[in-house]
Amino acid sequence: MAPLLHYLLVLLSFSSLVLASPPPQANFKPNKLVLQVHKDIPFLVNLKGKFLWANCDQQYLTSTYHAPYCHSTQCSKANSHTCHTCPYTARPGELAQDELFILSTQGSNPGPIARVPQFLFTCAPSFLLQKGLPKNVRGVIGLGHAPISVPTQLASHFGFQPKFALCLTSSTRSNGVIFFGDGPYYMHPGIDISRPLSYTPLTVSQKGEYYIQVSSIKVNNKLVPLDTSLLSSKQHGLGGAMISTTTPYTILEHSIFTTVTQFFSKELSGVPQTKPVAPFGVFPNIDLVLHTQNVIWRIFGANLMVQAHPGVTCLGFVDGGSHPKASIVIGAYQLEDNLLQFDLAKSRLELSSSLKSRRTNCANFNFTSSP
Ligand SMILES: *[C@@H]1O[C@H](CO)[C@@H](O)[C@H](O)[C@H]1NC(C)=O
Repeated sequence: MAPLLHYLLVLLSFSSLVLASPPPQANFKPNKLVLQVHKDIPFLVNLKGKFLWANCDQQYLTSTYHAPYCHSTQCSKANSHTCHTCPYTARPGELAQDELFILSTQGSNPGPIARVPQFLFTCAPSFLLQKGLPKNVRGVIGLGHAPISVPTQLASHFGFQPKFALCLTSSTRSNGVIFFGDGPYYMHPGIDISRPLSYTPLTVSQKGEYYIQVSSIKVNNKLVPLDTSLLSSKQHGLGGAMISTTTPYTILEHSIFTTVTQFFSKELSGVPQTKPVAPFGVFPNIDLVLHTQNVIWRIFGANLMVQAHPGVTCLGFVDGGSHPKASIVIGAYQLEDNLLQFDLAKSRLELSSSLKSRRTNCANFNFTSSP
């Protein structure tokens, strides 16, 4: 399978995350905020990112910009040693502070724009920012569990729970959505996708990656005979599964990959090839059994199979070799059209499973402002 890198990078638009100055309402305290998520547009979504990183050597001229002084409270909060005191020189990768504007919502449709007057981020010249990233990237939005990450700062400024929810779309033509703050989150036609959700403990690795426990894997409701020590092994990162928006397809450690794909092929040959519903209607499900038997992450349909060429469909998993970063890295393709809510206060991940089985999807948030 040829990974289509750009297709799978999930990026943010400038239209709702604006580092400029429309007039917001003073002291407006919404309990929920919303961002549009595109593919291939300016801000890369990074779950392990510890801050917002913006390219500010061009197009960045605001009178409210401020670089915190060394040893200031802002610098210690950010644990930053890159602050400096000279506002007239170039700004290479320094801690910065400016007003941030973001759309509020009551759950459906965007409401008034909310303002965070002293938002901390990192200001980077494009030569630094562009390293290893697509050319049009103007920044990275860090959603990690860290003192100045985007969810932490928004929650602490507005006084809501440090929770955010990711709903990535499979469509290249429409927008997915990220919510900050708790549900309800309504999708067309009026479905609250924030309930019911199942949940599992969420851990954060030293490098800031989010992990969940996977205790076994089932194909077609049958247990795959795996050496489960591979799943819990500390040899690969934390053990268990890392969640990554910047990894295109789910990566399995080599022996897990081999066992699962062989089991899948066997099950596939047993499946009667009748009544194909949607394009992938006849394929067996793959279930990641999480911390307990009755909490599963079911991967099926469009999250499971990838159309490589017309008429050629592959399993959307990749062999990670014998020394991967984690036993399992759940990639963007498997996250699409699932709601994932990260509750940083309770350290748990809340999951919807595919919204398509609830007759909606992540492109169904109505971004038309209410009058
Ligand atoms: C989206 O919201 C607007 C404003 O409330 C409304 O007029 C429109 O009908 C909604 N669109 C859909 C498809 O529900």
